[in-house]
Amino acid sequence: MIKVGLILGIAGACRTDELVNLTVDDIEDVGSSLIVKIPNTKTKIPRIFVVTDVGNMLQLFRKYLSLRPPHVKHKRLFLYYKAGKCSSQPVGKNTMGKIPSVVASSSATLLADAGVDITTIKRHAGWKSTTVAEGYVENSIENKTKSANQVLVEAVDVKDVED
Ligand SMILES: *[C@@H]1O[C@H](CO)[C@@H](O)[C@H](O)[C@H]1NC(C)=O
Ligand SMILES: *[C@@H]1O[C@H](CO)[C@@H](O)[C@H](O)[C@H]1NC(C)=O
Repeated sequence: MIKVGLILGIAGACRTDELVNLTVDDIEDVGSSLIVKIPNTKTKIPRIFVVTDVGNMLQLFRKYLSLRPPHVKHKRLFLYYKAGKCSSQPVGKNTMGKIPSVVASSSATLLADAGVDITTIKRHAGWKSTTVAEGYVENSIENKTKSANQVLVEAVDVKDVED
Protein backbone atom coordinates (compact mmCIF):
# COMPACT_ATOMS: atom_id res chain seq x y z
CA MET A 1 0.00 0.00 0.00
CA ILE A 2 2.76 2.39 0.94
CA LYS A 3 4.75 1.65 -2.20
CA VAL A 4 1.72 2.16 -4.42
CA GLY A 5 0.88 5.35 -2.53
CA LEU A 6 4.41 6.61 -3.02
CA ILE A 7 4.43 5.80 -6.73
CA LEU A 8 1.11 7.52 -7.38
CA GLY A 9 2.01 10.36 -5.02
CA ILE A 10 5.29 11.08 -6.77
CA ALA A 11 4.06 10.45 -10.31
CA GLY A 12 1.10 12.77 -9.86
CA ALA A 13 2.27 15.20 -7.17
CA CYS A 14 -0.75 14.12 -5.13
CA ARG A 15 -1.82 15.49 -1.79
CA THR A 16 -2.70 13.13 1.04
CA ASP A 17 -6.45 13.64 0.71
CA GLU A 18 -6.26 13.13 -3.03
CA LEU A 19 -4.66 9.73 -2.46
CA VAL A 20 -7.14 8.84 0.29
CA ASN A 21 -10.08 9.64 -1.98
CA LEU A 22 -8.71 7.85 -5.02
CA THR A 23 -11.06 5.13 -6.29
CA VAL A 24 -10.45 2.10 -8.50
CA ASP A 25 -12.49 3.88 -11.20
CA ASP A 26 -10.02 6.77 -11.27
CA ILE A 27 -7.25 4.56 -12.63
CA GLU A 28 -7.23 3.15 -16.13
CA ASP A 29 -4.70 0.44 -16.91
CA VAL A 30 -3.87 0.80 -20.60
CA GLY A 31 -1.20 -1.88 -20.60
CA SER A 32 1.94 0.18 -21.09
CA SER A 33 0.95 2.71 -18.44
CA LEU A 34 -1.70 3.78 -15.98
CA ILE A 35 -3.81 6.85 -16.59
CA VAL A 36 -4.85 8.34 -13.28
CA LYS A 37 -7.63 10.88 -12.84
CA ILE A 38 -7.61 13.02 -9.73
CA PRO A 39 -11.12 14.40 -9.40
CA ASN A 40 -11.41 17.99 -8.34
CA THR A 41 -14.47 18.50 -6.19
CA LYS A 42 -14.43 22.28 -6.69
CA THR A 43 -13.88 22.70 -10.42
CA LYS A 44 -15.19 19.24 -11.45
CA ILE A 45 -12.30 19.14 -13.93
CA PRO A 46 -10.05 16.18 -13.13
CA ARG A 47 -6.28 16.42 -13.21
CA ILE A 48 -4.76 13.57 -15.18
CA PHE A 49 -1.35 11.99 -14.94
CA VAL A 50 0.40 8.96 -16.34
CA VAL A 51 2.37 6.30 -14.50
CA THR A 52 4.80 4.52 -16.79
CA ASP A 53 6.45 1.17 -16.21
CA VAL A 54 9.72 2.38 -14.75
CA GLY A 55 11.19 -0.02 -12.19
CA ASN A 56 8.28 -2.47 -12.45
CA MET A 57 5.85 0.10 -11.07
CA LEU A 58 2.93 -1.29 -13.03
CA GLN A 59 3.52 -4.82 -11.81
CA LEU A 60 3.49 -3.55 -8.24
CA PHE A 61 0.23 -1.69 -8.83
CA ARG A 62 -1.41 -4.71 -10.46
CA LYS A 63 -0.27 -6.95 -7.63
CA TYR A 64 -1.79 -4.58 -5.09
CA LEU A 65 -5.04 -4.42 -7.01
CA SER A 66 -5.17 -8.23 -7.33
CA LEU A 67 -5.05 -8.53 -3.53
CA ARG A 68 -8.26 -6.56 -3.20
CA PRO A 69 -10.91 -8.80 -1.61
CA PRO A 70 -13.84 -9.44 -3.99
CA HIS A 71 -16.51 -8.49 -1.46
CA VAL A 72 -15.37 -4.88 -0.92
CA LYS A 73 -18.44 -2.66 -1.26
CA HIS A 74 -16.75 0.71 -1.72
CA LYS A 75 -14.50 1.91 -4.55
CA ARG A 76 -11.64 3.42 -2.56
CA LEU A 77 -8.33 2.20 -3.95
CA PHE A 78 -6.25 2.17 -0.79
CA LEU A 79 -7.11 -0.58 1.65
CA TYR A 80 -5.31 -1.65 4.78
CA TYR A 81 -2.99 -4.54 4.29
CA LYS A 82 -2.14 -6.47 7.44
CA ALA A 83 -0.51 -9.80 8.23
CA GLY A 84 -0.28 -10.76 4.58
CA LYS A 85 -3.91 -9.96 3.87
CA CYS A 86 -5.71 -7.08 2.28
CA SER A 87 -8.69 -5.98 4.36
CA SER A 88 -11.74 -4.15 3.08
CA GLN A 89 -11.09 -1.20 5.37
CA PRO A 90 -10.14 1.94 3.44
CA VAL A 91 -6.95 3.73 4.44
CA GLY A 92 -7.63 6.98 6.25
CA LYS A 93 -5.97 10.34 6.25
CA ASN A 94 -3.68 9.68 9.19
CA THR A 95 -2.13 6.55 7.73
CA MET A 96 -1.85 8.07 4.29
CA GLY A 97 -0.27 11.13 5.86
CA LYS A 98 2.57 9.00 7.14
CA ILE A 99 3.67 8.28 3.60
CA PRO A 100 6.21 11.06 3.19
CA SER A 101 4.02 14.12 3.34
CA VAL A 102 6.41 15.75 0.96
CA VAL A 103 5.31 13.82 -2.11
CA ALA A 104 3.88 16.85 -3.85
CA SER A 105 6.96 18.97 -3.31
CA SER A 106 9.44 16.12 -3.79
CA SER A 107 7.81 15.28 -7.10
CA ALA A 108 8.43 18.83 -8.28
CA THR A 109 11.95 18.78 -6.87
CA LEU A 110 12.77 15.55 -8.69
CA LEU A 111 11.55 17.06 -11.94
CA ALA A 112 13.48 20.26 -11.36
CA ASP A 113 16.63 18.28 -10.57
CA ALA A 114 16.16 16.37 -13.81
CA GLY A 115 16.28 19.67 -15.67
CA VAL A 116 12.60 19.82 -16.53
CA ASP A 117 11.38 23.32 -17.33
CA ILE A 118 9.07 25.20 -15.01
CA THR A 119 6.11 25.13 -17.41
CA THR A 120 6.23 21.36 -17.49
CA ILE A 121 6.53 21.17 -13.72
CA LYS A 122 3.54 23.46 -13.26
CA ARG A 123 1.54 21.35 -15.65
CA HIS A 124 2.68 18.16 -13.94
CA ALA A 125 1.62 19.33 -10.51
CA GLY A 126 -1.61 20.85 -11.78
CA TRP A 127 -0.58 24.24 -10.50
CA LYS A 128 -2.34 27.24 -11.95
CA SER A 129 -4.30 24.84 -14.10
CA THR A 130 -7.05 26.89 -15.67
CA THR A 131 -9.96 25.52 -17.66
CA VAL A 132 -8.80 22.21 -19.01
CA ALA A 133 -11.26 20.62 -21.40
CA GLU A 134 -11.46 16.87 -21.77
CA GLY A 135 -10.06 17.09 -25.29
CA TYR A 136 -7.04 19.01 -24.14
CA VAL A 137 -6.45 16.47 -21.42
CA GLU A 138 -6.58 13.63 -23.95
CA ASN A 139 -4.11 15.42 -26.21
CA SER A 140 -1.63 16.01 -23.45
CA ILE A 141 -1.38 12.33 -22.46
CA GLU A 142 1.75 12.12 -24.61
CA ASN A 143 3.29 15.07 -22.78
CA LYS A 144 2.26 13.60 -19.47
CA THR A 145 3.91 10.32 -20.41
CA LYS A 146 7.13 12.26 -21.01
CA SER A 147 6.79 13.91 -17.59
CA ALA A 148 6.05 10.58 -15.93
CA ASN A 149 9.10 8.93 -17.48
CA GLN A 150 11.33 11.74 -16.30
CA VAL A 151 10.05 11.89 -12.73
CA LEU A 152 9.93 8.11 -12.26
CA VAL A 153 13.41 7.54 -13.71
CA GLU A 154 14.67 10.21 -11.36
CA ALA A 155 12.84 8.65 -8.39
CA VAL A 156 14.37 5.25 -9.11
CA ASP A 157 17.82 6.87 -9.35
CA VAL A 158 17.40 8.59 -6.00
CA LYS A 159 16.19 5.36 -4.42
CA ASP A 160 19.21 3.47 -5.77
CA VAL A 161 21.55 6.07 -4.28
CA GLU A 162 19.79 5.83 -0.88
CA ASP A 163 19.88 2.03 -0.94
C1 LIG B 1 -12.07 13.75 -0.12
O1 LIG B 1 -13.32 13.27 0.34
C2 LIG B 1 -13.85 14.02 1.41
C3 LIG B 1 -15.10 13.31 1.90
O2 LIG B 1 -15.96 13.00 0.82
C4 LIG B 1 -14.11 15.44 0.95
O3 LIG B 1 -14.61 16.21 2.01
C5 LIG B 1 -12.81 16.05 0.44
O4 LIG B 1 -13.06 17.33 -0.10
C6 LIG B 1 -12.19 15.17 -0.61
N1 LIG B 1 -10.87 15.71 -0.98
C7 LIG B 1 -10.46 15.82 -2.23
C8 LIG B 1 -9.11 16.40 -2.43
O5 LIG B 1 -11.14 15.45 -3.16
C1 LIG C 1 3.06 19.24 -25.29
O1 LIG C 1 4.41 19.59 -25.42
C2 LIG C 1 4.73 20.38 -26.57
C3 LIG C 1 6.22 20.59 -26.64
O2 LIG C 1 6.89 20.29 -25.46
C4 LIG C 1 3.98 21.70 -26.47
O3 LIG C 1 4.25 22.51 -27.61
C5 LIG C 1 2.50 21.43 -26.38
O4 LIG C 1 1.78 22.63 -26.19
C6 LIG C 1 2.19 20.50 -25.21
N1 LIG C 1 0.78 20.16 -25.24
C7 LIG C 1 0.00 20.25 -24.17
C8 LIG C 1 -1.43 19.89 -24.39
O5 LIG C 1 0.39 20.59 -23.08
